[in-house]
Amino acid sequence: MADTIMTKKSRRLFLKSFLGFLSLPFLYLGKNAADTARRWNENRILNIPLKDIRPGQNDFDTVIILKDKERLTVLSRECTHLGCRIHAKGDGYVCPCHGSEFTREGKVSRGPAARDLRELAFSKTGDSVRIRV
Ligand code: FES
Repeated sequence: MADTIMTKKSRRLFLKSFLGFLSLPFLYLGKNAADTARRWNENRILNIPLKDIRPGQNDFDTVIILKDKERLTVLSRECTHLGCRIHAKGDGYVCPCHGSEFTREGKVSRGPAARDLRELAFSKTGDSVRIRV
């Protein structure tokens, strides 16, 4: 009888230890996911010097900035169909993935994209434009 009780306790201890051991990778992954999310949020602000923005159409890696006199409009270069990065073509933009086309102002001129390019919020801070991408 004593052996049976000890065996049950040993088994229980073994199972607890084993389950604890199995949870270690999940704790590690959870910490990494939180770090990645924090880094991602930190990187979602883009600063572009005002001196780099000319009147008219300005193509940057992830955004398009339209400057009309002193008015700025910032558009995402992410296609509104499935998110590919659009390329400049003639007076507007084309998506290399499925061929959607957008005007210079970001309006859809040819599908399959159904929505205009996303306008991004920005603020002017001193000598740069701060954009939330
Ligand atoms: Fe741009 Fe499909 S992702 S057209």
